[in-house]
Amino acid sequence: MEITGLIEAVRAQVKEWRRQGHSVGFVPTMGYLHEGHESLIQRAVKENDKVVVSDFVNPIQFGAQEDLSTYPRDLDADCALCEAAGVDLLFHPAPEEMYAPDFSTYVKAERVSDGLCGKSRPTHFQGVCTVVCKLFHIVMPDRAYFGQKDAQQLAVIRRMTRDLNLDIAIVGCPIIREADGLAKSSRNTYLNEEERTAALVLSRAIFLGEELIKQGERDAETVLSAMREIILAEPLARIDYVEMVDADTMETIRQAKGRTLVAIAVWIGTTRLIDNFILEA
Ligand code: PAF
Repeated sequence: MEITGLIEAVRAQVKEWRRQGHSVGFVPTMGYLHEGHESLIQRAVKENDKVVVSDFVNPIQFGAQEDLSTYPRDLDADCALCEAAGVDLLFHPAPEEMYAPDFSTYVKAERVSDGLCGKSRPTHFQGVCTVVCKLFHIVMPDRAYFGQKDAQQLAVIRRMTRDLNLDIAIVGCPIIREADGLAKSSRNTYLNEEERTAALVLSRAIFLGEELIKQGERDAETVLSAMREIILAEPLARIDYVEMVDADTMETIRQAKGRTLVAIAVWIGTTRLIDNFILEA
């Protein structure tokens, strides 16, 4: 596996692969890789001749009060995981390689970025779209892989890719969970033992909501209030949102209908966690 921090080195390698007729898969990450990332990488390895992973904690998707400086990092472990999974090229740029000091161009997917996480993180998706658009232009992959855990991010990236006519297939991959149900996330490392137990209210609420809809309940408020009740019973939990939206537009819906996303964001102590499910109702 080649490791580089240089945009030009990625371009040169991908150009050479293209010349040889290889397809290229891409998994953008912020590092501190876990089994969720690994599942994206495995799928990319299966579906493409060559696979590039980016490992870059993107400063512009963090708000001023957010956890940029404390975001967990472990490049050695990331390299080992990528190497074992069959990645061909790991791109680990310094922030200066990605952003010129007078960088001033941003990509914004309007409306689809406004609700859910966009409400409490107003510049987050602009930061995500901008870096993903840049990475797409650097790597020029055939396919790019994103986790369904970040459901709004996936919808925003699909929208950007469609709206900007980027010739890249966006592949969404299922949420990977711990044995007890907690969705895998790099931010789970922030939780102490007590918070780790409290964090189970997210998946418990998600499983209940999913079950209610599967049993035929369609009314959003009925589903969401049953979910809220579970979360509110946990003293360490504070709800950011519990919502039902159209899975493509992210617009609020009152009845589960078509591709329906039920998404939640909950603070456990000082850690904000998200979880969701999508189903065809
Ligand atoms: O999902 C993430 O880890 C990040 O938002 C992404 C897509 C790598 C962009 O920085």
